[in-house]
Amino acid sequence: MTATMTDTWWDSAVIYQVYPRSFADGNGDGIGDLTGLMERLPYIASLGVDAIWMTPFQPSPQVDQGYDVSDYCGVDPLFGSMEEFDQLLQSAHLLGLRVLLDVVPNHCSSAHPLFRQALAAGPGSPERDMFHFAPGSHDGLPPNNWQSVFGGGAWSRASPESVDDKDWYLHLFSSAQPDWNWRNPAVGDYFESVLRFWFDKGVDGLRIDVAHALFKAPGLPDAPSVTAVVDGLRSNPLVSDQEDVHEVYRRWRRLAQEYTPHRLLVGEVNLDPARAARYTRADEMHQAFPYAFIGLGWDADAWAGVGSELEDARQTHGAPPTWALENHDLVRSATRYGGGATGSERARAALLTILGLPGAAYIYQGQELGLPEVHVPVAERVDPMWSRGGVCRDGARIPLPWTQESHRSHGFSQGQLPDSPWLPVPEGWGNYAIERQHHDPDSSLQLLRRAVELRRHLTGRGIFGKHDDVSWTVQAGGLLLCQRQENICIAMAMGTGRVRLPAGEVLISARPLQAAGWLEPGNSAWIVQN
Ligand code: NOJ
Ligand code: CA
Repeated sequence: MTATMTDTWWDSAVIYQVYPRSFADGNGDGIGDLTGLMERLPYIASLGVDAIWMTPFQPSPQVDQGYDVSDYCGVDPLFGSMEEFDQLLQSAHLLGLRVLLDVVPNHCSSAHPLFRQALAAGPGSPERDMFHFAPGSHDGLPPNNWQSVFGGGAWSRASPESVDDKDWYLHLFSSAQPDWNWRNPAVGDYFESVLRFWFDKGVDGLRIDVAHALFKAPGLPDAPSVTAVVDGLRSNPLVSDQEDVHEVYRRWRRLAQEYTPHRLLVGEVNLDPARAARYTRADEMHQAFPYAFIGLGWDADAWAGVGSELEDARQTHGAPPTWALENHDLVRSATRYGGGATGSERARAALLTILGLPGAAYIYQGQELGLPEVHVPVAERVDPMWSRGGVCRDGARIPLPWTQESHRSHGFSQGQLPDSPWLPVPEGWGNYAIERQHHDPDSSLQLLRRAVELRRHLTGRGIFGKHDDVSWTVQAGGLLLCQRQENICIAMAMGTGRVRLPAGEVLISARPLQAAGWLEPGNSAWIVQN
């Protein structure tokens, strides 16, 4: 850690999300791991980003690719060892990269020792009170009508074989992910020890999984309709956004501030901007992901509408917004914006646009390469959301292509073991390879490097203010404009024809302008107006 690392480095940070299973496989078993990541940290540093966020690598049966944690303070042997993690953290810091980890406080794995103890201890025991156990109805139905986010019922029998044990347990996700009972203070104390464990090691912050869902409505009443819970954590007050949850983040914020430098808390708060912003009040988390924005399609009105709501929320609660277009749960933006060459151009323009906005930006691995969503053959899908009847998220989780040549899954796997990645790599994947894009000045990868560098430069000179006001408009022809203060404008052509740019000097554009003062469809630019 250098002395220049301040407590609020994150306000305008660019943070790179690493999905370890698919980043780089150091031992050749087809699954990305900590050694692979450590060897390739210089690549991430070469992007100019400030930090990485690593999705879970803790011990887990891997039913939900690590979001079913059986030991919050360990490393799954699939990914490596704690010694390797310590080395990774040190190497990242030496390269000037902070490290954020994922913490999963809503649920654990059904293999977690405390859940195993709860099962063994039986109905009415204090061990069961760590989770949501409740007897079913007399006619053998679960305690309420809630449905799992992944599809199917949100309750499973504790001991299906036993006639005496009539309890069911609640799981908002798969049956291998029992929900913790946050109304039991022992759960809060347990998670405090988990946070301290990682913060004591020097981890720089945490991304908090399903942060808004920890508390459920008292008494766990029936939902008005069965679909209400399936439709999401987003709007269902029975399973999310209960007022009590805020006290958890006040406690975590105090804890994060006990450390020097302060640790960052960023929440997965899948609520509309006004409600989500309440989680980033001055004494709660520092950041929340922009869920209303992240999954939008290529639609200028929707961008401007949600952008304005995020700006209103910022002005009300003060925390700078974050910007993201992709993560490991969503369809890749190049596909969402129409697919093919058009979708790729739009994704590249959109990435440049969010990098021009005030507030932290999160990039998901492979987004810098313009990777599209991959259609994974049904027989090779592993996502539990798919197997429980929901959508399949595997197509955004394909191993990164490092080399153009297909050998060892385009350089993803090293070592001697047979070459079979955990998800299949499609034909033509090498066209997106890092090696190839690195040598092409016009590639998406090189554009990202230039944009991150320029952003840093403009921020350093105060031209990009950390707390700039922004106003969003849509002009004729589908020109999206985001005005930062009076003199910086981020423009993106989201219509079907070319559009006139506002007057000013173009600092960077996603593709070269074909005619001065005009923006072609699917292009974007940062403009300084004097
Ligand atoms: C959100 C995570 O991003 C996702 O991958 C996971 O399945 C759910 N939370 C449940 O932990
Ligand atoms: Ca491996």
